[in-house]
Amino acid sequence: GAPLRVGMFGGGTVGGGVYEICEQDKKAFFQGLGCDSEIIKVCVRDSKKPRDYKMDPKTEVVTDYAAILDDDSINCVVELMGGVTDAKDVVFEAIRRNKHVVTANKALVAAYLGEIQELLKEHPGVTFGYEAAVCGGIPIIATLQNDYLGDKILKVCGIMNGTTNFMLSKMESEGADYGEVLKEAQDLGYAEADPTADVEGFDVQAKIALLTKLAFGATVPSDLIQCKGISSLTSVDFEYAKMMKSTIKLLGTAMRSPDGEKLSVFVSPVLVPLSHPIASARGAGNIVSVDSKNMGTASFSGPGAGRYPTANSVVNDIVRLGTGKVGSPFPFDKEWELESDFTSAFYL
Ligand code: NAP
Ligand code: HSE
Repeated sequence: GAPLRVGMFGGGTVGGGVYEICEQDKKAFFQGLGCDSEIIKVCVRDSKKPRDYKMDPKTEVVTDYAAILDDDSINCVVELMGGVTDAKDVVFEAIRRNKHVVTANKALVAAYLGEIQELLKEHPGVTFGYEAAVCGGIPIIATLQNDYLGDKILKVCGIMNGTTNFMLSKMESEGADYGEVLKEAQDLGYAEADPTADVEGFDVQAKIALLTKLAFGATVPSDLIQCKGISSLTSVDFEYAKMMKSTIKLLGTAMRSPDGEKLSVFVSPVLVPLSHPIASARGAGNIVSVDSKNMGTASFSGPGAGRYPTANSVVNDIVRLGTGKVGSPFPFDKEWELESDFTSAFYL
């Protein structure tokens, strides 16, 4: 691929990790892979803020979006700011200017899925990577983009939020206090800027929307995805779960109806039998089980949040871009009738 000159928006938890991985041993790392890439500029809110990673003085730290968007030498924008307002302007403008885009921002991609697809059609030379947007370090996006094209997916279901899984694990095993354990997840860099998105399930709502697109071709608006988070769970719920040899996990689910004609998509705390692989994900671990006609059930598990696992997914998108290996971001589209099958939402 052509040399990549990267402008990165955001230098926080994920951005710092991406910077460190990309810059730590640039020659050996990128050139060994046949990828010539360099982070030229990093845009942050406060350029004076001390960073918890070392920056090369050659990297320009800016606060003005135009410093990257107007720079014609920059051909790749990596968006790691979060949010759906400024980040939307940056991502859309980057595509309009024919810059490749890599983002970890599931809220943005889910909210503007249709518009992003349309814009990408108008700019066929632009590639769009969002591996880090779902399940942090687990390569679930690439798997669904590439490895199920000849199969028929029946159901995608799993733990897609590290913050709440960390909280539920600690509340169950240590009887930890909800507020304290949320604060711990924030300190570890797992939570969203506004953790309401984590605990009320909105983060999973965006993630299951993206997996629904990849697995079933459906663009489902968030408000049609029924969503219940973990904020009303108490220690009594865990006691009942234990009596039923189960645990409680916050799951995102998208599945075909038995006749295969309709799609149900929902987010909810679910009683999961301890014998089920989904029960085994602890801490910030995530796991996604995919049921399909040919493969049966396959589960993909690993770290779902945090600096380096998430940065690893971003860097892989950059390397795929730099080596010309990026496929279609949304391989197929299909119209679906949606149903709300909430009877199956609380038990696995
Ligand atoms: P973060 O630590 O809060 O970092 C955000 C960065 O963006 C900061 O460097 C901040 O600048 C900069 N920023 C924010 N708003 C800005 C604005 N309006 N203009 C310029 N710069 C701005 O967030 P994060 O945890 O890295 O998350 C970033 C993205 O990755 C989000 O979309 C999140 O959903 C996604 N993600 C996060 C994780 C995770 O485990 N943390 C995992 C997967 C995906 P300052 O540093 O100057 O404040
Ligand atoms: N806040 C998210 C989580 C980050 O806890 O899973 C990873 O997308």
